[in-house]
Amino acid sequence: PAPLEYPYFERLPLSTLITDIGCLVTNDPAHGTGPLGLLADAAVVVEAGRIAWVGHAASAPAADEHYDADDRTLIPGFVDSHAHLVFAGDRTAEFNARMSGQAYTAGGIRTTVAATRAATDAELDTNLTRFIEEALRQGTTTIECKSGYGLTVADEARALRIAASHTPETTYLGAHVVAPEYADDPAGYVDLVTGEMLDACAPHARWVDVFCENGAFDGDQARAILKAGQERGLIPRVHANQLSYGPGVQLAVELGAASADHCTHLTDADVAALASSDTVATLLPGAEFSTRAAYPDARRLLDAGATVALSTDCNPGSSFTTSMAFCIAVAVREMGMTPDEAVHAATVGGARALRRTDVGSITVGARADLLLLDAPSHVHLAYRPGVPLTAAVWRAGVREV
Ligand code: NIG
Ligand code: FE
Repeated sequence: PAPLEYPYFERLPLSTLITDIGCLVTNDPAHGTGPLGLLADAAVVVEAGRIAWVGHAASAPAADEHYDADDRTLIPGFVDSHAHLVFAGDRTAEFNARMSGQAYTAGGIRTTVAATRAATDAELDTNLTRFIEEALRQGTTTIECKSGYGLTVADEARALRIAASHTPETTYLGAHVVAPEYADDPAGYVDLVTGEMLDACAPHARWVDVFCENGAFDGDQARAILKAGQERGLIPRVHANQLSYGPGVQLAVELGAASADHCTHLTDADVAALASSDTVATLLPGAEFSTRAAYPDARRLLDAGATVALSTDCNPGSSFTTSMAFCIAVAVREMGMTPDEAVHAATVGGARALRRTDVGSITVGARADLLLLDAPSHVHLAYRPGVPLTAAVWRAGVREV
């Protein structure tokens, strides 16, 4: 092809060599040691938004641009596979009441539903943008986003339309709780969720989710909702076994869901079902933190052989944090995970929960989603809780932070 001339050459994607990486987490055992594929004195080359080369700094190829990591730690951008970010208002008063001894119930969701319905599209988009940028500043480069605070055909559809303009990982959660208008007719609400509401939402969603819990939807209702979604091409994921033992995890496995989320109250049979399936156990320690509840037992799941993901569950009721680093620190301190396991779960674990192979690892061909930590190793994410360690963030090769 003829050589491009000015000004076009300025638009050619330049390659960038990031070198002098003291500790590189690749999540690719082929690149380095252990499940994290750790490499010391490393370099990576980014080209056209993807990883083009990974290896020792000493043998790195030349590139157009050069970035000196100054002996710090480079890890894959966090993959937050569970968040509820289309909403308005907040629930400070409910949190305060809980911290003075009141219990968390699913009922608080209705407070946010009222505020969300009253908000304009622009207000919801502004809020969502704020949370995605807040997450990005802390190293989250992929984020899933659920509906579930509209609970009418129009409000659920607009939540997903707005979410889809920010992320491909959109989840239809019309079955968050029974809408207040249907309080006396839950079966009618399930009909709506599996019918007209699904029709309006499916074009904007990749996933279908249901809150399978006492006070929300039982196993039979959840099965009907997830199957209806599947028939429309949506892939199931389930809010399962959060507040009590129940059928959610078994249902997730039965339907081949990508993920069973929360997994706080598990029987041995639930653990065995997850371990022998492709359904990822997504643990959300922010929820137990903010509801003052007992944490899920990650050790039990890992020892059984289940794949574990860590996510924020960011929402105004049960877990108002966008910080994956916070979730890692809590998971290590309270849930029996090693720092390596927690970092793995917050990156490639989340990618598996979203059935993505292009994010969550630093390997040739992957999207160049990178988090540079102001730390000598990834262990500092748990070792230095609450400390902002983000030094730089690239998303699809573009420096964002
Ligand atoms: O994942 N469990 C259901 N949904 C959210 C909480 C939503 C809310 O309280 O507003 C969760 O914890
Ligand atoms: Fe949730």
